[in-house]
Amino acid sequence: MSCHDIPRRHLAFTRLLYLSVMPAKSGDARPSRSPVSRRQVLAAGGTGLLAATASTTRAAARTRRARAAGGDGTPEQIHLTWGEDPATGVVISWASPEPATQPRVRIGQRVIPGEPRQYSDGINGGTVWTYHSRVDGLRPGATYAYVVTADNDANVADPFTATFRTAPHGRTAFRFTSFGDLATPNTAWVLSYGQSAYAVDAVESFQPLFHLLNGDLCYADLNPTVQPEVWRDFGNNNQTSAANRSWMPCLGNHEVEFDNGAQGFTSYLTRYTLPDNHVPGFGGRWYSFRVGSVLFISLDADDVVYQDAGAFVAGPGALTPVASTGNQAIEPGTSFYLKGYSGGAQTAWLQRALAAGRLDDSVDWIIVQMHHCACSSSATGNGSDLGIRQQWLPLFDRYEVDLVLNGHDHDYERSFPVRGADADAGHEVATGAVVDTLRPHPVTTTDNGVFDTSQGTVHLILGCGGTDANLDDYGTDTADGSSFPGGSPPRTPPGQAKVFTQANRPVPTSTADVFTRAGADAVEDATWSAKRDTSTGYGIAVFDVNPDPEDFGGHTSITVTQYHAVGADPVNPATGVKGAPTPDYTEFETFTLIRPRRA
Ligand SMILES: [Fe+2]
Repeated sequence: MSCHDIPRRHLAFTRLLYLSVMPAKSGDARPSRSPVSRRQVLAAGGTGLLAATASTTRAAARTRRARAAGGDGTPEQIHLTWGEDPATGVVISWASPEPATQPRVRIGQRVIPGEPRQYSDGINGGTVWTYHSRVDGLRPGATYAYVVTADNDANVADPFTATFRTAPHGRTAFRFTSFGDLATPNTAWVLSYGQSAYAVDAVESFQPLFHLLNGDLCYADLNPTVQPEVWRDFGNNNQTSAANRSWMPCLGNHEVEFDNGAQGFTSYLTRYTLPDNHVPGFGGRWYSFRVGSVLFISLDADDVVYQDAGAFVAGPGALTPVASTGNQAIEPGTSFYLKGYSGGAQTAWLQRALAAGRLDDSVDWIIVQMHHCACSSSATGNGSDLGIRQQWLPLFDRYEVDLVLNGHDHDYERSFPVRGADADAGHEVATGAVVDTLRPHPVTTTDNGVFDTSQGTVHLILGCGGTDANLDDYGTDTADGSSFPGGSPPRTPPGQAKVFTQANRPVPTSTADVFTRAGADAVEDATWSAKRDTSTGYGIAVFDVNPDPEDFGGHTSITVTQYHAVGADPVNPATGVKGAPTPDYTEFETFTLIRPRRA
């Protein structure tokens, strides 16, 4: 189904799951989700639907066992990810406030134990219990119901149930959605905001087969003494959608947490079970999966970017973990910098994955998901990063990656198709000296709404999920009239992008024991920038994959529609107008990607 079938959609959401609406900031009303389990009415007619009713006698017996077992093993933060083959398998993951006794999933006649996985947070020492049930052997394109419970589930008499659909097999039309930078609706946490609840509802409203969550999931690292609590609010907010369809994440800079594993990813890796990349020591950090004729590749750009944007102690005080962790105080000026952590293993894997994808006649499209940006002209956000351009864009060119989906900057921006690089197109901010930013070269600057991505890769910035810091303002270069040489028509004002070409490690400020990290060190004219949403920092991208070649003369196509939530900005950066979270997502733009269909 094309998204043209949804005429300028105004989304009205039923918020049955909100138990309360509490004032958060003056003038704001934010929805708050309870961590109690969601009930769903099972729709008949699907394939393999499971009757979820337990007998009264059995339920009473389980309740007695739960009391005897002690602790609260009630499932929460329930979410799905694809298994190794999305057509035949999913992984059902969840958490519980205390250790669960006999955690399990029931699907059809099968009972699948939840594999326990736990960790203790390296800062506050809190223990997190999670469970993962891998469900394989399913039928492609089929709907299944499942139950999640445990012996000490407080809802054991009426346990959590939901349904999901497996991916179709072969060249078939399907829809997916994407955004990054979601946060939680609990504004007690730094960078959380009520829009994140509406964003989750927006996913549900479009009923995609799955959703791509492009990093910076909940900003727990910015709330370092309560990280597990922030993750819990994130998981319970997402459950509204992620229990019904796979949410496939990637790592962002805010998944990097002090004292939580070699790269700080323990909170993330404990909660998610992701397709195996078969690279020893780096499981879960990057992966790929196939749906229909599309190869999806999810990368961790923390490994290649110059920008230092992970966990950071600015000072003046140290960050002191609780004594039970045994961890030392983290002194002001300390940051968790990851560039090069895989020793080249990720880039080598990427090259193999891309090569195999382009040798496979059943693959038409290659879509990359990663958090940081190669093509962002955000003014108050981060901007672009030379590290991605050096290490990965040449591979994207060589193997004709069609589309790159990012987050990181809290806005919406679309590039023209780009291939190759313009040399010496940047300038150092400090000196004005020429610096080679490897500026991606647009293969066209005609914005006619249809782009052949066999000729160049389109980059989309989708950091428009729900976080508090809307950054929908973009760089301009009013002093440089040649910003878009040959552009047709010329854009006003010309765009300018910031580019990190060096590591911005912490440096002292004039205040004792207080440190800062500088912004990008270079700028360039953003000749590759095609469209920027200046009206709101919030939205969701909807992708309709159409393998039928009839519409575009032998080409297969993906129609992309960006819906945005106008008025949701806490403060509009262009006008200063104060906004508030809103459930109304309306169409911002639609365009179509085409490429020749394989054999
Ligand atoms: Fe980020």
